[in-house]
Amino acid sequence: MRKFASIVERLDTAGAHAWAIHDEARARSDKGQDIILLSVGDPDFATPPAITEAAIASLRAGRTRYGGFAGGEEFRRAVAARHTAQTGQPTSPAQVVVCPGAQNALYATTLCLAQSGDEVIVPEPRYATYEAVVAASGAARVDVLLDAERGFHLDPDKLAAAVTERTRMILLNTPHNPTGMVMSREELEAIAELALRRDLWLVGDEVYAELTFGVPHVSVRSLASIADRSVSIGSLSKSHAMQGWRLGWVIAPPDLAGHLINLVKPMHYGLSPFIQDAGVIALTEEHPQSEVMRREYRERRDLVCSRINAMPGLACTWPEGSMFLLIDVRGTGLDGERFAWGLLEHGGVSLLPGTGFGASVTGHVRCSLTMPLAVLEDACERIERYARSLQAVSASA
Ligand SMILES: Cc1ncc(COP(=O)(O)O)c(C=O)c1O
Repeated sequence: MRKFASIVERLDTAGAHAWAIHDEARARSDKGQDIILLSVGDPDFATPPAITEAAIASLRAGRTRYGGFAGGEEFRRAVAARHTAQTGQPTSPAQVVVCPGAQNALYATTLCLAQSGDEVIVPEPRYATYEAVVAASGAARVDVLLDAERGFHLDPDKLAAAVTERTRMILLNTPHNPTGMVMSREELEAIAELALRRDLWLVGDEVYAELTFGVPHVSVRSLASIADRSVSIGSLSKSHAMQGWRLGWVIAPPDLAGHLINLVKPMHYGLSPFIQDAGVIALTEEHPQSEVMRREYRERRDLVCSRINAMPGLACTWPEGSMFLLIDVRGTGLDGERFAWGLLEHGGVSLLPGTGFGASVTGHVRCSLTMPLAVLEDACERIERYARSLQAVSASA
């Protein structure tokens, strides 16, 4: 009898199946069906040209050898300098560990901080991969519900009540996927005080840091009191539409950075120099496209959110950041799964059921704002027609 390690069972989470509808919608779209894909956070913008040109020049210059385990010196310096400027927290290049995307950074960080017998607190709803990230470490995940009535903000008292002797780390995500909530400095200060008092690590997944709509992003590392126990995870995937380049990082206290370097050696052995050279240009030069993207995401949010809130049976909270809307579909009489599959079948729009984000949002679907405004208008028409058809069915029942 062949045997697998127990990790394979732990990885088989609801989150691992979250994109089933997306895979189906993509397959139908590839076959020529008229489908609008709003079920994945895959920015539709092109990487700013100066960044692409930098990678090409670097490739031509032969920058194709190993790029250093922790990352190249220049890229780490660029990440540290930008982080220092954004947070006011002095950060040295030695505190930066470069990873292939924030996803790998999350995985590596959690492996260094938590293990079997420990607990990791995660606000719920949560990004779909967190379940597997925590499970892989062997630690138990403890969900703390975000407060839907207050725009999915976190109640620090609820968080404090979830801490036990076994809690090792709190995994925060701000700006938040899937709700678009952005944590305020006050909220973070209360959490920092708790982390300090209960001797916990505070890990911030900040991949949407540069995508907020009129509210400031506050990094967990901007709180000086917990600088020796806070970790910021970021990437260029969303801010610079570089998701396929796989370039992210962990910013950590020096001892944790050292452990992470030991982990990434056997894990990925470092990233390509030409990718990091492009990353230096991304971080050190101004790219007008970044501002265009920010403005466009905001216009998209305004359009889709106001349209959804005027549709029968649907409601959504106005996101303060990120590139998603979480839509409550319970007013249609369906749960998120049935609504999403029905909409794909009858309206040709693919949204992601809330199931993969946690038990509290099985009555929701997530909509990505990763299509141009005209396509989103079309999607709204289709969603509205479908919502009205459901209303008509329930009225005649
Ligand atoms: C909250 C969150 N964290 C991490 C990631 C992974 O990002 P990256 O492309 O940098 O690996 C995503 C991607 O959508 C995300 O939404």
